[in-house]
Amino acid sequence: NKTDNQMLVIFGASGDLTARKLVPALFNLYQGRHLPENFTVLGVSRSDLTDDDFRKKVVGQSKYLEENIKESDAAFIDRFAEKLFYEDLGKEYDTSYENLRKRIFDLDKAHGTGGNVIFYLSTPPSLYEIIAKNLADQGLNEEKRGWKRLIVEKPFGYSLASAKALNEGLHRYFKESQIYRIDHYLGKETVQNLLVTRFANSIFEPLWNRNYIHHVEITNAESGGVEKRGGYYDKSGALRDMFQNHLLQIVSLVIMEPPIGAGPDEIRNEKVKALKSLRIMRDDETLHNNTIKAQYIASVINGEKIKGYRDEEGVDPESNTETYAAIKFFVDNWRWADVPFYVRTAKRMPTKVTEVVIHFKSPHHQIFKDSGMNNKDNKLIIRIQPDEGILIKFGVKVPGQGFKVERANLDFYYSSLVENHVMEAYERLLLDAMQGDATLYARADEVEAAWEFVDPILDYWKNNKDVKTYGYSAGVWGPTNADELIEGLGMWRNPSE
Ligand code: BG6
Repeated sequence: NKTDNQMLVIFGASGDLTARKLVPALFNLYQGRHLPENFTVLGVSRSDLTDDDFRKKVVGQSKYLEENIKESDAAFIDRFAEKLFYEDLGKEYDTSYENLRKRIFDLDKAHGTGGNVIFYLSTPPSLYEIIAKNLADQGLNEEKRGWKRLIVEKPFGYSLASAKALNEGLHRYFKESQIYRIDHYLGKETVQNLLVTRFANSIFEPLWNRNYIHHVEITNAESGGVEKRGGYYDKSGALRDMFQNHLLQIVSLVIMEPPIGAGPDEIRNEKVKALKSLRIMRDDETLHNNTIKAQYIASVINGEKIKGYRDEEGVDPESNTETYAAIKFFVDNWRWADVPFYVRTAKRMPTKVTEVVIHFKSPHHQIFKDSGMNNKDNKLIIRIQPDEGILIKFGVKVPGQGFKVERANLDFYYSSLVENHVMEAYERLLLDAMQGDATLYARADEVEAAWEFVDPILDYWKNNKDVKTYGYSAGVWGPTNADELIEGLGMWRNPSE
């Protein structure tokens, strides 16, 4: 694909994301020769920095760059740093946008970026709309000379109503085709590979339905806690932070119908349809029986004391915000009728892992009755991270008399493709936006459909005094009560097996 000459204007440029993700991703794109000939980054934020201070902060003295890039010589890094500039927009992003427009104009003239600009909003969400308005007031949404695009970071809304309001607000100033809503899980190779596994092979899709699939289980576990983000997280919780966006995006790729092509709208139309078929839980009994929330409590792992969630900085000591959420739900359509989906996401788990497990039904008629093979032992595991790959679990005959069956694995790991550099999610997503490909970005209707499903759960958790917030120790797979959700199926799969 062609990448036009362009400028990337990052709002929130002195924040963590810019140094941690965006600049290393841009550097890797530069090193991989993916950036266009003429390319400039303009960092914008509330800090009073010079171009040079900004370069030092995100390049010269940044530990993230060191950690995330392949070896490179100092002169090359300096050449990259020279592409970076900075503009202070005042404490409340309220300094005149006129200055910003002039700066963009001057940089464009000096560096030949062709009037093409991406505005990347990595600020608190409360500023998204006002920034869009201020840009529009300066004509910076107009595409008379060069295109203009707007990338919006998460969280996109706090509820269905706020997401709708935000969409409406942004649409006042930018067309939907100009807006790119980031969900960095869509930038992960293995998440995209869900589409290829399903639609580029003929051996999986015929089985991909209620006739052969018994249930689907998705685990997203992190070993870390809320780190330094207690203030943000306490108002968010696992359901908003991970489930509404990243996990429902994965769900939509697992359940969607085959699109007619691989274009952005062809794929996204099917994803919206998929999200709209999630059965929304409305009554308290259903919500009670199908949702579980919990919080990590103070614990000791290998002699190391781990703070409980309520003791984390920025967290209300009486907080009921969940750091663990497990949800059981159904998908009301022809393909998935009656197939239960179990999705859990949590912090402070034994390990960091994300995987989708397709549990197939047992054979209709079991002739190897005492074979040692359990029901539903056929599994397809899509390992999203780490050890990215596809694992198939099936039964083979144990050599010798009789028919004893043992489990065997047929596994593919991405690491075996040594010659391929797997792009980090932000690298891939930035490059796509630079090329105008929105396939891996969430569309307005997708985001709203996901909130539509999540809203009643959030309301129930918030408004119903009987909802328990269970406790679990750091380093265990969540509260034992979560096993009740999956009752009758044994346990949640242990991803380390
Ligand atoms: C972010 C969440 O969107 O995703 C974080 O806000 C979470 O709380 C992170 O830690 C997980 O991303 P990844 O790519 O490390 O799985």
